[in-house]
Amino acid sequence: MRIVALVSGSGTTLQALLDAAGSGRIEAEIVAVGADKPCEGLDRAEAAGARTFVVEPGDHPDRPAWNRALQAAVTAHRPDLVLLAGFMRILDAEFVAAFAPALVNTHPALLPSFPGAHGVRDALEHGVKITGATVHRVVPEVDAGQILAQVAVPVLDDDDETSLHERIKAAERELYVETVAELVAAGAPRPER
Ligand code: GAR
Repeated sequence: MRIVALVSGSGTTLQALLDAAGSGRIEAEIVAVGADKPCEGLDRAEAAGARTFVVEPGDHPDRPAWNRALQAAVTAHRPDLVLLAGFMRILDAEFVAAFAPALVNTHPALLPSFPGAHGVRDALEHGVKITGATVHRVVPEVDAGQILAQVAVPVLDDDDETSLHERIKAAERELYVETVAELVAAGAPRPER
């Protein structure tokens, strides 16, 4: 099974997936990793021997054109499963339709609470005592797709956004790896291409 992952940042979630694919815990190959900008996640992908590509919004006239270019770049690697691993841009309905239901994301909050780009900050500001991470299928509405797995993480009294996010990410990496391993073992539904 061929996996393409998309990242925007440090790529620690991606690293967990790369390690799990390398060890055989995830019985699939991460053939390529794409990003919306140069980032550490791409360096991690290259170090693991995956192909990389960057499709930057600024290089395209508008968002639909960027989405189409990203879709073409992902499609070129013939994925059976597309994983968002800290990819921080919203994908349009056309992109989602190209890969769903084999398009999966992980989000640093217990959905349906705190969707969007600031799930950790929003949970902290709301004063929740328990938050966590959610692995879910991607639909055009932001963070609204079928929930595949969740893990709860305590919020400590002296947490700031960084400390809380790091605690979430430690649990989230394990959750994502386990969930993807199960999806692959079950034969993840292929993109309708
Ligand atoms: C993860 O917590 C992931 O859930 C989050 O970005 C982090 C990536 O960290 N994604 C989102 O918030 C998507 N809306 P990483 O770059 O160290 O893997």
